[in-house]
Amino acid sequence: MKTNIQNIELESIVEEINKLDTDMVLLVVDHIVWSQYSKDIILEKIENKKVIFWKSPDGEKVKNINDFQNALEFFLEKGIHRNAHLVAIGGGAVSDFAGFIAATILRGISWSVVPTTLLAMVDASIGGKVAINSKSGKNLIGAFHMPTNVWVCSKFIQSLPETEKNSGLGEVLKYCFLDYSIYDLVIKKGSIEQIIDACAQYKQKLVEEDFKEIGIRKILNLGHSFGHALEFIYNLSHGEAVMWGMVLVFKIFGTEKNINDIIALKAALNIPGKTPPWFNKEFPIDKIMTYLSKDKKISALSSIDLIIVEDVGNAKIERKTFDEILVQLESKKDELKKFTL
Ligand SMILES: NC(=O)c1ccc[n+]([C@@H]2O[C@H](COP(=O)([O-])OP(=O)(O)OC[C@H]3O[C@@H](n4cnc5c(N)ncnc54)[C@H](O)[C@@H]3O)[C@@H](O)[C@H]2O)c1
Repeated sequence: MKTNIQNIELESIVEEINKLDTDMVLLVVDHIVWSQYSKDIILEKIENKKVIFWKSPDGEKVKNINDFQNALEFFLEKGIHRNAHLVAIGGGAVSDFAGFIAATILRGISWSVVPTTLLAMVDASIGGKVAINSKSGKNLIGAFHMPTNVWVCSKFIQSLPETEKNSGLGEVLKYCFLDYSIYDLVIKKGSIEQIIDACAQYKQKLVEEDFKEIGIRKILNLGHSFGHALEFIYNLSHGEAVMWGMVLVFKIFGTEKNINDIIALKAALNIPGKTPPWFNKEFPIDKIMTYLSKDKKISALSSIDLIIVEDVGNAKIERKTFDEILVQLESKKDELKKFTL
């Protein structure tokens, strides 16, 4: 199934919901988003449909098994049917969570997303990977369940805190290394709407080729294996962690040009921060290795698929053993400690 990705105005969200071929809409909305936008999304204008509204804890907090159960029971008590359609309004955390509800409730109902963060517009809302977190790690309980629509409204970016904007830009940075036309657009300072569109279409194309991520879709994980470890160790935002995760891959398996490209792209995107989170601290090799071994992208007991960029637009999936990674990190730890972009 192909997702319809469409740019819309804030005021048109209700119009799009009205066009859905259902008489029942389950709404899952991030409560911070709702506190700022409920005046623009007027539920009373939804016609001829029963609307069941679940206000979600904001962001990552919702991606847990208790809220998952609460939301499921809440909707089931209202007596929903198989043709109900779920609409998620929020960032990547809420769309991951709500998409997992849609994937599991009554063995799966259709759903659509209104991404409200830059990161969700360029990445999280596209491709149907939905999940909640486990005590053992992020996104370990989930499914593949493609949304019918992704309605992109760039106006939501205006209210994003700076750290969330930069987090989204971290994922944009990733796309620049995967696709030359996105690199070029960013270097030539294309508009944020053009950049969102290019990233979303690029991801959609890969997802169509490889929905279950057994092949080419894996390249979207550039920076993510180390990134998830850094996100956990230093409590970074997702996109910032992905950016430093890319830097680590480039430093241990990449080229000097990779690093120069990242510097140029960071400047073009106005992403602040030159010092990595491990700067001047003991480099956390043990923690990184422990986290890597739990990454769900490992496909064997002693190795992991990493994404290596030979040059912009030329990324490859390479299987690396944990021993190999450990040797590299050990040999570069002093250099890494002093490294800045
Ligand atoms: N499924 C995928 O393919 C995929 C890809 C990348 C990331 N993710 C997931 O996405 C999540 C991160 O998502 P995110 O970066 O979008 O952040 P988020 O959903 O965690 O939201 C971050 C914060 O921004 C707030 N917020 C959201 N929209 C806002 C707006 N318009 N104005 C003001 N505040 C707003 C939220 O309330 C929250 O406090 C992670 O859980 C990650 O695992 C999923």
